Amino acid sequence: MNSRSKRAAKASASELFVSFTSSVSFDSRLWRHDIAGSVAHARSLADSGVISGQDLEDITRGLRGIASDIRSGEFTFDPSAEDLHMHIEKALTERVGDAGAMLHTGRSRNDQVALDMRLYVREALADVVAEAINLQEAIVSKAARQGDAIMPGYTHMQHGQPVLLSHHLLSYFWKLQRDVERMSDCYDRTNVSPLGAGALSGTAFPVDRMLPANMLRMKGITENSLDAVSDRDFVAEAAFALSLLAIHLSSMCEEFVIWSSQEFRFVRLPEGLSGGSSMMPQKRNPDIPELVRAKAGRAVGGLVTILTLLKSLPLAYNRDLQEDKESLFDVFNTVEDSLNALTYFLTELEFDKVRMRGSAETGLMTATDLADSLATRGVPFREAHGIVSGLSECSGGDAVLFRELALDELASHGERPGPDDDDFLDAESSVLRRTVVGGTSPEAVRAQKENALATINGNRSLLQNMRNDASAVDELLG
Ligand code: ARG
Repeated sequence: MNSRSKRAAKASASELFVSFTSSVSFDSRLWRHDIAGSVAHARSLADSGVISGQDLEDITRGLRGIASDIRSGEFTFDPSAEDLHMHIEKALTERVGDAGAMLHTGRSRNDQVALDMRLYVREALADVVAEAINLQEAIVSKAARQGDAIMPGYTHMQHGQPVLLSHHLLSYFWKLQRDVERMSDCYDRTNVSPLGAGALSGTAFPVDRMLPANMLRMKGITENSLDAVSDRDFVAEAAFALSLLAIHLSSMCEEFVIWSSQEFRFVRLPEGLSGGSSMMPQKRNPDIPELVRAKAGRAVGGLVTILTLLKSLPLAYNRDLQEDKESLFDVFNTVEDSLNALTYFLTELEFDKVRMRGSAETGLMTATDLADSLATRGVPFREAHGIVSGLSECSGGDAVLFRELALDELASHGERPGPDDDDFLDAESSVLRRTVVGGTSPEAVRAQKENALATINGNRSLLQNMRNDASAVDELLG
């Protein structure tokens, strides 16, 4: 190789290195968190006498200037810069000279990026909690509007026992509530500051680590510098909490898709929120629930990417960790959009209560009630179960024949059947009997709804605390 082609090869090697390793195209999303973290770090350097008050002033002014230029679109990100952190530091030094070059004292990009990610995740969790609360509210108000409408309850997608439609809808409220609680737990583990961990062993400068943590409204500091720069549990936990949430949405959406089919006709798809066919003029399609259902797969894909990149990583920081960002951002975007779309969709969705009720009356959905009623006459439940199973086989699914066989059976157990003794066939009597806490009786469901409303209030104050912490970032940007 002559020296010219050696130089050309060298140039293209460094180009390849930059283009393969640069993260600016995606980590630029963290600019607010990065700059706020730097403002807090600079202040901690100045407070412990590592940099002068003048340097702090120059750095803070410079960083805030960059923030305002990014916000107004005047600052263009250079995708060939290695990463956001280098990019902003370089811009700072161009603007304020030597003071800019002091900023990175006692800090590494390893604790810096860990901080940025924590600040991003806590803010993004708050956004998802806000969307989840909106959907919870939509569920409760939809449930409240259904009165005591009855529908078939299913197990194995086969008719099981009648339930209230409001009870069915509210079941998703509590799944979402556990999602909110999981996000809140994850939030607490996320909201601690790794600053001071340095590259891996802790900074040698005499800084007070709680100072930047307090400025950023983080609840504490990490305990071990090696752990601090390698820990992405909060990334994986957030991705898991969101994936499970998305899976809950996918189940709800699957039901809406099934219920909208001509065979079920339990729901009428909202006109403005449904798709059509380019060929079949009569079609109205459940596009929103179908896509929400599919997007759960995308969220799980992101989670798997994150877990897989963490697997077998040795201590402490490894560049692999840069790969967590695109997946995590995508999981957050995807789940937030899904929640928002589904909230709109559910609000507009109409239930065909007559059709649902009719379906709950057909067949032998109250067979359990008959077995219960034999059990109250002293027949051991296991035996009663066998008897009713035999009757239902004999009836071949014919409700009229089943009733006759059942009344004969009741008569054979002592007293003659009274006037109310065939209410085991009645869906309404069946739900009325289920007054246990968490059961489907109208009374129990009303209490459940009250608990749901109180739970929403609790979630709102949780969200307010999260938002209050997160607002420290924008406050530090000036
Ligand atoms: N862009 C990197 C990341 O996202 C920042 C930390 C780089 N640190 C290093 N020593 N190369 O993880």
